[in-house]
Amino acid sequence: MFKALVMEKDEESGLAAAAIKELSEDQLPAGDVTVAVEYSTVNYKDGLCLSPKGGGLVRNYPHVPGIDFAGTVEASDDDRYKPGDKVVLTGWRVGEMHWGGYGQKARVKADWLVPLPEGLDARQAMAVGTAGFTAMLSVMALEDHGLEPGQGPVLVTGAAGGVGSVATAILANLGYEVAGVTGRPETADYLRELGASQIVAREELNETVKRPLETETWAGCIDAVGGEMLARVLGQMKYGASVAAVGLAGGAGLPATVIPFLLRGVNLLGIDSVMRPFEDRQRAWQRLATDLPMEKLEAMVQPATLSDLPELGAGILKGQVKGRVVVDLNG
Ligand SMILES: NC(=O)c1ccc[n+]([C@@H]2O[C@H](COP(=O)([O-])OP(=O)(O)OC[C@H]3O[C@@H](n4cnc5c(N)ncnc54)[C@H](OP(=O)(O)O)[C@@H]3O)[C@@H](O)[C@H]2O)c1
Repeated sequence: MFKALVMEKDEESGLAAAAIKELSEDQLPAGDVTVAVEYSTVNYKDGLCLSPKGGGLVRNYPHVPGIDFAGTVEASDDDRYKPGDKVVLTGWRVGEMHWGGYGQKARVKADWLVPLPEGLDARQAMAVGTAGFTAMLSVMALEDHGLEPGQGPVLVTGAAGGVGSVATAILANLGYEVAGVTGRPETADYLRELGASQIVAREELNETVKRPLETETWAGCIDAVGGEMLARVLGQMKYGASVAAVGLAGGAGLPATVIPFLLRGVNLLGIDSVMRPFEDRQRAWQRLATDLPMEKLEAMVQPATLSDLPELGAGILKGQVKGRVVVDLNG
């Protein structure tokens, strides 16, 4: 038997609620690798999956959410993994379509796992989680499009959130000048500790302007917000600079013009972490182990247990969670 947070749907109201239950291994879904999950985390998507309607992501109940997990292989029918191997999983719609990491055991496809890189343990991997992994993919995309330190400030929107916090710490560690956009002025000291040298108030960039081009300011941008803020930022990018579009915390719309693309050669780079091929995943996890300072990662961590998840899930949807939550499955 093992412990898991299970979402169960009330047939009358059609709404799901969370309960901590004891499950047996034969209740786990089909898969080739069984993992003893040690840590999981809370991302924006987890907030959706923990909500009463499942955020449109959960199809079947009862459901075990948790889009990320890290732990140790217990049993494997696949040659790539053997008992005792340390692994991490993000994406592939685990925690949405398939049971995820909010249980002490998970059974998944071997193709979805990545061996933990040297220098990163299971807890640190979950302090990174999908949010941090996506931040790393964004940095890699900007670098692949020519970003180098010394070209000017790199803007990070939603800076005090999960993606934003890890992006800020990685960029600063690599020698970039980082400007963090936040709607929470009280997080300014935290962002400075992560390495931001400039704090931009959310209101400054939330306001729409009629001019499609403004002063060329940012050498790059990692955008977790989307919506009007992304539209505004496009018009402030330096000539030939790139924006990595990661999230939609501020809206899925994009009320922009094409002028920044046509007159300044600005690039808008889409970042997907969910269906990323294995080679990219391995490269990103290896870079995280070397380029993300572990003491800064630790400063972002808020520890939690399964019973904290309903409240944390609701909080992340309201933009109230700072940095990264690490859920101890044995806590
Ligand atoms: N593309 C992918 O594969 C991928 C992977 C991971 C995450 N994402 C997406 O990236 C986004 C961030 O994820 P996360 O896990 O970092 O979530 P998070 O921890 O909640 O961070 C989002 C941050 O955005 C800011 N924000 C929230 N509401 C806002 C609003 N209305 N206007 C402007 N800013 C707002 C807040 O930062 P401040 O308090 O600092 O303002 C908040 O902390 C989400 O939309 C998520 O779905 C996408």
